[in-house]
Amino acid sequence: MLLLRSAILTRPFFYSETEKILSVEGVKMEQVARRYGTPLYVYSSEHILERLALFEQAFSVVPHLVCYAVKANSTLAILKMLAQKGCGFDVVSGGELERVLAVDRAAAERVVFSGVGKTASEMDLALRAGILVFNVEGEEELELLAERAAKLRGKARFALRVNPDVFAETHPYISTGMREHKFGIDIRRARAVYRKGGKYLEPAGVSVHIGSQIRSADPFGAAAERVVRLIADLRQDGHAIRYADLGGGLGVEYHPDKAFDAAEKVRQYAEALIPPVQKAGGLTLLLEPGRFLVAQAGALLARVLYVKKNGAKTFVITDAAMNDLIRPALYQAYHEIVPVQKPRSARKTIVDVVGPVCETGDFLARDRELPTLRQGDLVAILDAGAYGMSLASNYNTRPRPAEVLVRGRRAQLIRRRESMHDMLQTERNGSPF
Ligand code: LLP
Repeated sequence: MLLLRSAILTRPFFYSETEKILSVEGVKMEQVARRYGTPLYVYSSEHILERLALFEQAFSVVPHLVCYAVKANSTLAILKMLAQKGCGFDVVSGGELERVLAVDRAAAERVVFSGVGKTASEMDLALRAGILVFNVEGEEELELLAERAAKLRGKARFALRVNPDVFAETHPYISTGMREHKFGIDIRRARAVYRKGGKYLEPAGVSVHIGSQIRSADPFGAAAERVVRLIADLRQDGHAIRYADLGGGLGVEYHPDKAFDAAEKVRQYAEALIPPVQKAGGLTLLLEPGRFLVAQAGALLARVLYVKKNGAKTFVITDAAMNDLIRPALYQAYHEIVPVQKPRSARKTIVDVVGPVCETGDFLARDRELPTLRQGDLVAILDAGAYGMSLASNYNTRPRPAEVLVRGRRAQLIRRRESMHDMLQTERNGSPF
């Protein structure tokens, strides 16, 4: 019970009482690292399902559908687990849709398709699969969607993704709800665009997504108010609007010294969104959480290759690098790093934790005070379940990590490590001319 509670509130990783080894559910990290090698992503299934349950509980008073943002972590086993719970999905490419269809064809009817650059063939795939709704981001896109629907002799349900011009405090790369961003249609123009319509288009909803890693509920509430006002106008114009898709973006706390209560966060979030939706009436609320469901469920395990001193600096060089987890390099993101074996001494050193990639930007932590680490030690980079593996690359011709999903005492390999063959097979190895 204690574990269950801590899993909901913060992270599922803890030191086992007896051996002082970092564990998740009933599995020790040393064992999985030995069995599957490093770098290795490890996820707690219990934690993901608990986070989903928090959403379900908080929004139970309104008709709603949680559409997990596949981009956060698109590994099939994780999608499958969520699909089995009746979860919907937010996809932003034909590829992500194919992943959802691969785990559960019937889940198509719970899919929303977002993204600013949908191609004709991606639209065709989604129309044929019978997805719930297209979140259309521009007028030209709406025209193409009408064309594709006409061609396939079907009707495309759509929601315009409006840009509510709401400021939300987050990293500039992942803020999306301001007029100067590439996303959505200016909310002031939306009514005119809905009027254009056409017989192959069914205006079914309005959608919005203001950004990611937003920790305050206020901007979400402000965006919801604006969406609901637009819905009232659209209904006046005769459109039967049934869906309010209020996007994703609810943040987590990466710093261990800041208090974070996940249940309370979701409660505040629901408190901001539900009243406007109830006021409008007759709406199904769609939500697109990604990070909140999976970030804290996952850790990246890495082994220390070398500890090296250069001048005044100490570098801990691990076998995980920016190609495995790019968030520190790309957003200067903080990820807590802990040794897998709980340190016996209280000695600490200030170090940079870096990978083998040939870039100065290849770091996992900078000027971090950590228990003194030695060659061969295992470390866990925490809160790496979202935008970790899904952003991994083969830079420096490094195979992407393997992934393990834990359930109780069982650890299941859900993606094997890439092989040299995997990496080379799409290329031509001969004289090109
Ligand atoms: N819906 C749409 C339309 C989105 O663009 C996103 C994220 C989400 C939902 C899910 O947002 P979430 O609940 O995960 O915050 N790579 C960055 C995050 C990029 C987010 C992009 N869009 C990072 O590692 O912080």
